[in-house]
Amino acid sequence: MDKLIITGGQPLGGEVRISGAKNSALPILAATLLASEPITICNLPHLHDITTMLELLRRMGVELTIDEKLSVEVDTSTIQETHAPYELVKTMRASILVLGPLLAHFGEAEVSLPGGCAIGSRPVDQHIRGLEAMGAEVLVEEGYIRARSNGRLKGAKIFFDMVTVTGTENILMAAALADGQSILENAAREPEVVDLAECLIAMGADITGHGTDTIVVNGVEKLHGCRYSVLPDRIETGTYLAAVAAAGGKIKVKDTRPDTLDAVLQKFREAGAEIETGPDWISLDMKGKRPKAVSITTAPYPAFPTDMQAQFAAINIVADGVGIIKETVFENRFMHMQEMIRMGADVTIDGNTAVVKGVEKLQGAPVMATDLRASASLVIAALVAEGDTTIDRIYHIDRGYECIEEKLQLLGASIRRVPG
Ligand code: EPU
Repeated sequence: MDKLIITGGQPLGGEVRISGAKNSALPILAATLLASEPITICNLPHLHDITTMLELLRRMGVELTIDEKLSVEVDTSTIQETHAPYELVKTMRASILVLGPLLAHFGEAEVSLPGGCAIGSRPVDQHIRGLEAMGAEVLVEEGYIRARSNGRLKGAKIFFDMVTVTGTENILMAAALADGQSILENAAREPEVVDLAECLIAMGADITGHGTDTIVVNGVEKLHGCRYSVLPDRIETGTYLAAVAAAGGKIKVKDTRPDTLDAVLQKFREAGAEIETGPDWISLDMKGKRPKAVSITTAPYPAFPTDMQAQFAAINIVADGVGIIKETVFENRFMHMQEMIRMGADVTIDGNTAVVKGVEKLQGAPVMATDLRASASLVIAALVAEGDTTIDRIYHIDRGYECIEEKLQLLGASIRRVPG
């Protein structure tokens, strides 16, 4: 297993280009299953999770043409199976996103039930309930979700019990081809849901209200081909900004969307960073100062994202003061804190709340990545710490960060990958 070795303690400086958003690209690739003509998706990030989704489509018999810039043309007219096997789903929970499109377009789907994961139990009951409300017959047996519909799915009014991102996306995709109107209430408002809706509209879907908590979909009989470019990744953007907020220095992130990061940029300002934005860039300057501790509570968009919680923990561990971090989206998303404690951080955890007292210095140590965003936070902690930090199980980071060593090296970081 590859490891990252980081020698920290130096401020960072420079420019970084942001890649396409993983969590937009995954549902958009799944949405190609709805179309009756080829679809071309551009600005796909070069990531393991994207490769897994492409592999999932390929195994179903879908024809993929990939160019050197990783634009992918997806032609589903050659599909042979509507089956998503355990061996792929277990490596990527987002495989569940093929359930709605397969069922809506082909009338059947068999998708392995994703198991628990490092950050919580993560059930998919809302996905199943939504499809049942649209007339599907869904059985969960032998570890698989087996869904069928007798003819087209029927438009329905669906109220989600909690805000779920992939749940909203699955039902939105299914509703796009259903017979009649669907109203999705308590829908997720995340920019990635909006991006998926925009892609579906480019394919000919009739959708309004995306970006609010009520999405209205008038089902159409067919969706056509289109060319669509994926939104920039707001979490990758926030992660590089957090690295500089913690380690000190100055950064400009380019090819991004500042309007998707309001809650996060506000917290950087509270931490003492000078932030400027343009239409597609953000700059952050710490002006030689230590960050100030900030308190955050994670919640669905537009509130502070759970996917940025660990990175802000990495800022708080070296900040001036005490920051209180409350995680309300996932029940077990503090695994990075234990590793940070091994580097000298002062953290007390009580249920879903962590009290982080900033320390002046961290020391490099061997640590282990447990999930994607936890790994990113350990990279940030390592960039701040004195001496060498070795991060094990780095495959987690390759699921969500394109060329992280190269991008950090451009900022002046001392980081290298060693094969394990
Ligand atoms: N939930 C249920 N039942 C459901 C669906 C969700 O109880 O049927 C619960 C979950 O257990 C969780 C909460 O609802 O406690 C919210 O989960 P959500 O469904 O919104 O999460 P997700 O769709 O599985 C996506 C992102 C995650 C991100 C969350 C929250 C993708 C592919 N994944 O997951 O991203 O943390 O939304 O914003 O879009 C990551 O990129 O590292 C990552 C984990």
